Amino acid sequence: MDAVAHKIAALESFGSELEAQGIMTSSGMSAISTLFMGLLQSGDAILTQGNLYGGTTELLLKILQPLGIGIYLVDLNNAELVEDKLREHPSIKMIYFETPSNPTLDCVDINILVSLAKKYDKITCADNTFATPYLQQPLLLGVDYVIHSTTKYLNGHGNSISGAIIGTDVIGMKKIWTAMKLVGTNCNPFDAWLTYMGMKTLPLRMEKHCENANRLATYLSTNQKVITVNHPSLSSHRHHEIAKKQMKNFGAMLSFELSGGLDAGIKFMNSLKMCSLAPTLGDVDTLILHPATMSHINVAKEIREQNGITDGLIRVSVGIEAIDDIIEDIERGLK
Ligand SMILES: Cc1ncc(COP(=O)(O)O)c(C=O)c1O
Repeated sequence: MDAVAHKIAALESFGSELEAQGIMTSSGMSAISTLFMGLLQSGDAILTQGNLYGGTTELLLKILQPLGIGIYLVDLNNAELVEDKLREHPSIKMIYFETPSNPTLDCVDINILVSLAKKYDKITCADNTFATPYLQQPLLLGVDYVIHSTTKYLNGHGNSISGAIIGTDVIGMKKIWTAMKLVGTNCNPFDAWLTYMGMKTLPLRMEKHCENANRLATYLSTNQKVITVNHPSLSSHRHHEIAKKQMKNFGAMLSFELSGGLDAGIKFMNSLKMCSLAPTLGDVDTLILHPATMSHINVAKEIREQNGITDGLIRVSVGIEAIDDIIEDIERGLK
């Protein structure tokens, strides 16, 4: 476990003088919950965005809030609003964000958030699951902690479940390690080993994932049945410039909105032959998900819709198969 934690920490801090440490946990969710348990107490609050991975939003609202941790969901790209919240609520101890976010691929300007966090003396944490350290290194931009669902791209083959917490603050990491030990969110050695093996091909996979996703995004953006495509590679994407500034490439998660809402979404999903319907992501195979009835089924409809997670939204984790085969399958679904 320590070997893989060390390797992820080395990747996250590569190219800098930072001395990052890592802790492996039993899943991505346990990385997030262990981080919160290690660093926060009742009476503290978290400032975050409404369009996080559905499980994270649920953890915040259904577990942490009843335990006395305040949760503020705002548009983290609205610097004025973020600053107002930090000024008005001294209980906010941490700014937690996901960039690109799941499933709308919104990107948060890390530099701006970090400078506000430093001004008000707040901890920052980024979920870097979608980008991986191959595409984005939040620690180098001044973020304090990075978490991963290593179940996804770091493993890459969908054969293990684990998470990682990376940070440079020795005292903070010790508190998180204690929470991990006492709550028992530790990773098991077999899943850690599978992650270690998967990471050997991370750069090769990420290059191919990104190439395929950029092609698929361009194809979808010309299809009549598609209303919008969310992929930061597209110059039409609202956060294209932010992604360009802080990522090496745009990642391989994308989502698109079908005209026809829920019915069109379900028909599309049932027409596919090659792409698999799956709630996970980041595998070498192309995986498709319908957030409204799968990953975000337990997130209140108004929170979903305020954040673009509509009934007709389809999420694609673009794999590394031949891109023509992926496009052919998706075209079949769109007929
Ligand atoms: C961005 C993000 N973070 C965290 C998680 C949780 O990871 P896990 O499934 O390993 O608990 C997920 C799961 O899909 C995710 O997409």
